[in-house]
Amino acid sequence: MTAERPSRSTEAFFGRRHGKPLRPHQAGAMARILPELKVDLKSPAPADLKTLFPVPVEAVRLEIGFGGGEHLHHEANRFPSAGFIGVEPFVNGMAKMIAKLDETPLPNLRLHDDDATQLLDWLPDASIDGIDRFYPDPWPKKRHWKRRFVSEVNLDRFARVMKPGARFRFASDIDTYVNWTLLHCRAHEAFDWQAQSPLDWRTPYEAWPGTRYEAKALREGRVPAYLTFIRK
Ligand SMILES: C[S@@+](CC[C@H](N)C(=O)[O-])C[C@H]1O[C@@H](n2cnc3c(N)ncnc32)[C@H](O)[C@@H]1O
Repeated sequence: MTAERPSRSTEAFFGRRHGKPLRPHQAGAMARILPELKVDLKSPAPADLKTLFPVPVEAVRLEIGFGGGEHLHHEANRFPSAGFIGVEPFVNGMAKMIAKLDETPLPNLRLHDDDATQLLDWLPDASIDGIDRFYPDPWPKKRHWKRRFVSEVNLDRFARVMKPGARFRFASDIDTYVNWTLLHCRAHEAFDWQAQSPLDWRTPYEAWPGTRYEAKALREGRVPAYLTFIRK
């Protein structure tokens, strides 16, 4: 008999990770809140993705690998008329987000707690108004670069689900990953990079709250780059 393998659609995903065991109140909040907010990938995606949300929304945005959810919670609060789908397979990151939602619920937020490629493959064509990928795992060693989330196959996934004119925002403090992403997006026919000068990628995004990983990078003296690509 063959053992069941965890489903994954890329070679670059290593499964849902757990850090420290959750405290009882965190586990309780997860059990209460996450099932309500989880996107059900077993049912087909609705033709109009906006109907995923219990409140009327005008656009749907995605944040992949939100960590503790600092940016996602802030952004979903800032744009109540947009729906947000947040993806984070790291259990302790999801628990942080759930704790924030326990204090301040957001009706315009849905969650996926596994590999983002599963969600991307479920989404209808041209249904997404923006994708954020901030501080993806850097894989700094050259022999591991192929594990990076930004890749030709994942840019194809982005291109399929993004509406024309939608933005893909990518931040990183790792120079080789920034260059890697620039090269991959420039080589991809669906994406344009519109930066005019270094100020464009050295300046944080509008109303940027920072993220936990970014704070660490800054403390350690690394300089972030904030890239924005447009789906043509
Ligand atoms: C370095 S952390 C950065 C977290 C957060 N964006 C921040 O800036 O603090 C990268 C995150 O990407 C998530 N991640 C890695 N592979 C992923 C995948 N295939 N789908 C979704 N998230 C992923 C990890 O679980 C991790 O939380």
